[in-house]
Amino acid sequence: MQFSTRAERIDPFYVMEVAKAAQAKAQELANTDSPMIFLNIGEPDFTAPPLVQEAAARAIHNGTTQYTPALGLPELRERISAWYAQRFGVEVPARRIIITAGASAALQLACLATINAGDEILMPDPSYPCNRHFVSAAEGTAVMVPTTAAERYQLSADKVQAHWGDKTRGVLLASPSNPTGTSIAPDELARIHDVVRAKGGLTIIDEIYLGLSHDEAFGHSALALGEDIISINSFSKYFNMTGWRLGWMVVPEAMVPVVERVAQNLFICASTIAQHAALACFEPESIAEYERRRAEFKARRDYFIPALEALGLPVPVKPDGAFYAWADCRGAADKLGVKGSWDFAYALMDRAHLAITPGRDFGSYETADFVRFSTANSMAQLQEAVARMQRLLA
Ligand SMILES: Cc1ncc(COP(=O)(O)O)c(C=O)c1O
Repeated sequence: MQFSTRAERIDPFYVMEVAKAAQAKAQELANTDSPMIFLNIGEPDFTAPPLVQEAAARAIHNGTTQYTPALGLPELRERISAWYAQRFGVEVPARRIIITAGASAALQLACLATINAGDEILMPDPSYPCNRHFVSAAEGTAVMVPTTAAERYQLSADKVQAHWGDKTRGVLLASPSNPTGTSIAPDELARIHDVVRAKGGLTIIDEIYLGLSHDEAFGHSALALGEDIISINSFSKYFNMTGWRLGWMVVPEAMVPVVERVAQNLFICASTIAQHAALACFEPESIAEYERRRAEFKARRDYFIPALEALGLPVPVKPDGAFYAWADCRGAADKLGVKGSWDFAYALMDRAHLAITPGRDFGSYETADFVRFSTANSMAQLQEAVARMQRLLA
């Protein structure tokens, strides 16, 4: 059979190989005194809180399961609008909010609605692997721009200016980022947006981890910069609803009917049950639970990052959000007699029974020197992971 060049251009997720190997190893170790600890997981270890679960059950029980409008339940769009005002102090009218099947569908819609064949999109190296594939699925080209610790592993206005070419259509950013958990400093983001605007380009920013911000200095939505920002968001991370497949995007007013048309055809709508359930996310009781969990993620970061550094796994930029640590593994790999983050990840799996993510999928600049640890695991598991690494790297 022949497949499309579009599909062929999409690289496999190499980290899935590591994850599969970790799963297989976990089965071998299941009944031993050293079961596998998973620090490679990119989703919260919590599920939706009780009110949200009850709302989903109610929707199923009452048969409230028909398609919704392509743009989403009006009530849910209103609740998200109110959340922006309360939590981030930014006015985002509900009519610019579009409900999607996760941030993934929002990213896909944003790319399909704005990118023409041959257009180039600048994004930081390292960044979330799927982003370059959303761009290439829309027949654009992702241009990965190497970033440094001094730039918080994010694009800077200078670099956007320097890399902007004839075919550049815009930038695709994520703040806080996966894999680094670092955000773009607000003044730098404003400068980036000025450069993009001056070029007549687009600023697309993935704010999926913004709800899990741990630092006041960075926890602001880019939407405050103007109505021309395209912001991607989701119920997956802060709201702990990964498998429910629900997200949203905020787009400029003129883009709403365009995305509506594409979304109607490609998806009809996001899951109706998930949308009804998500209304309960904004009840004070649910928000209180989410805030408790956010504090837990922060406590884990505050324990785990210094512990990693003490083990010889420096984290050059302290994450200000999400639940990741982007650690330089060169010294630790040397100690174990291996070279590169891929082999280091396998060494930790084999010798300490820890699953982590090597840098490879996130880009090509220095990614062989870095691994991503996820702290979406209990404090007890993180402590045990540190104890095992201490024994191995002592
Ligand atoms: C930066 C980033 N964007 C988007 C996604 C996709 O999220 P969703 O579950 O909302 O599709 C992820 C998932 O890990 C992510 O890390």
